[in-house]
Amino acid sequence: MKHLLSIEELAPQELRQLVDLAVEMKNGRGNHAEQPLAGQTWAMIFTKSSTRTRVSFEVGIRELGGSPMFLSKNDIQLGRGEPIKDTARVLGRMVHGCVIRTFAQQDVVDFSEFGNIPTINALTDDEHPCQILADLLTVREKLGSIEGKRVAFVGDGFSNMSISWMWAAKHLANFELVLAGPAEHLPPADFLEKLDAPNVKVTTDVAEAAKGCHAINTDVWLSMGQEGQEEKEARFSGYQVNSDLMALADPEAIVLHCLPAYRGKEITEDVLEAHADTIFTQAENRLHAQKAVLATLANHWA
Ligand code: CP
Repeated sequence: MKHLLSIEELAPQELRQLVDLAVEMKNGRGNHAEQPLAGQTWAMIFTKSSTRTRVSFEVGIRELGGSPMFLSKNDIQLGRGEPIKDTARVLGRMVHGCVIRTFAQQDVVDFSEFGNIPTINALTDDEHPCQILADLLTVREKLGSIEGKRVAFVGDGFSNMSISWMWAAKHLANFELVLAGPAEHLPPADFLEKLDAPNVKVTTDVAEAAKGCHAINTDVWLSMGQEGQEEKEARFSGYQVNSDLMALADPEAIVLHCLPAYRGKEITEDVLEAHADTIFTQAENRLHAQKAVLATLANHWA
């Protein structure tokens, strides 16, 4: 694996290996025999705000022996219009890797091509691959395995989160993903055709999606950059993760939320608090999953 730009581009074996390594990273925290980032500086270009991604990458890079360099768009000329390809060509001559959170997926792709250093997508409008690795680690940890599980994703069925989850599901054997959301927010036919994953189902019937599932996953109704689109938010009112929905799921079902959460909107306070241990383990797992990505990339480029 040369970069982590999307789950779509990962081979099924690479996805499995990253989750396996994330388990090792978690179990070995504080006792890592190898420091694959020793002597390295990794840039972190963030054009959107972040709590979990920023902190987990900064800590993870340090724990693997490297030094993170956080660059908001206002810190560098990118924010004044310098092209991403020029930014990449400069940073590529100075730092050893780059983590990018931005809007357009193409910017992350361009950075990887022009920078010629390992590049990690820390969220774009199209994908959130690091989050999905942490989610899979959490499912494995809390449910014993990923195999044989049925996960419902409730809310925006065509967001960066749901898109990354669909690609992950395609790579997983004996696994089913059901997306439930308003018709306007389900993946279009051409995407589903390209995905070509019979184990990914889409429906407007949230009860049908939740019935007997092992995990219910949700995310904010309005992604970053969509603030103020209240008419869009109104369409999701029937797609809240609440106790009525949980009653339809498997009695041992877990709840996933990548956070930040808006209580009273996509999830109720009581469901979030009842499943807080899983949800905050999921947040912690960002650290372990991303250390697996960093170590894998560092070893590839060594
Ligand atoms: N889930 C997630 O990416 O959180 P942050 O936006 O806080 O990084």
